[in-house]
Amino acid sequence: MEHFFQQGTDSNAPTLLILHGTGGTERDLLPVAEMIDSTASVLGVRGAVSENGMARFFRRLSEGVFDEEDLIARTKELQEFLDQAAQNYGFNRDNIVAIGYSNGANIAGSLLFHYKASLYGAILFHPMVPRRNITLPDLTGTPVFIGAGENDPLCLPQETMDLEKLLSEAHADVLVHWDQLGHQLSQKEVNEAKIWYNAHIKK
Ligand code: MLT
Repeated sequence: MEHFFQQGTDSNAPTLLILHGTGGTERDLLPVAEMIDSTASVLGVRGAVSENGMARFFRRLSEGVFDEEDLIARTKELQEFLDQAAQNYGFNRDNIVAIGYSNGANIAGSLLFHYKASLYGAILFHPMVPRRNITLPDLTGTPVFIGAGENDPLCLPQETMDLEKLLSEAHADVLVHWDQLGHQLSQKEVNEAKIWYNAHIKK
């Protein structure tokens, strides 16, 4: 997969896997990763699907309606890429924390939904429920931060509540931060994610 790796200064810090929104690039969330933990290594990945020239991590049939078959295949591809990248760059495969926005949050959520211990933890900005009616792996203790907007027209509040419920039922340790904004990523939720990260990940 098209990507970059930036070595951090703290070898005990997680590797931050950054996953962009529709139409983004592998570097979009680099400033956010650096705000959250400037000492961590960063692995930025570009979605391999093109929707009218806009990069995405999986196909959708229409806005908010996912191509499930493609989602499953792309999630597997990303999972295998992470295994390979950990070997190539010599970072700890068991200590990856995803930071995803929108479509990137959805593929990160899909890793959690399909693979046990794929991620050490996850920061999901404006995610949706990646798939319904499946049994999730045991996510006991996996810390997950969700940033949500009360007025988000793409990720409706009910969607966020459903995602929180499904992850919690799989025993993930979920915190939802609500603000009154829409789908955009706000400085405030990045600040809240950093506070959460320091409490749950960096410790
Ligand atoms: C998706 O397709 O993953 C969501 O609708 C968010 C987005 O627009 O990327």
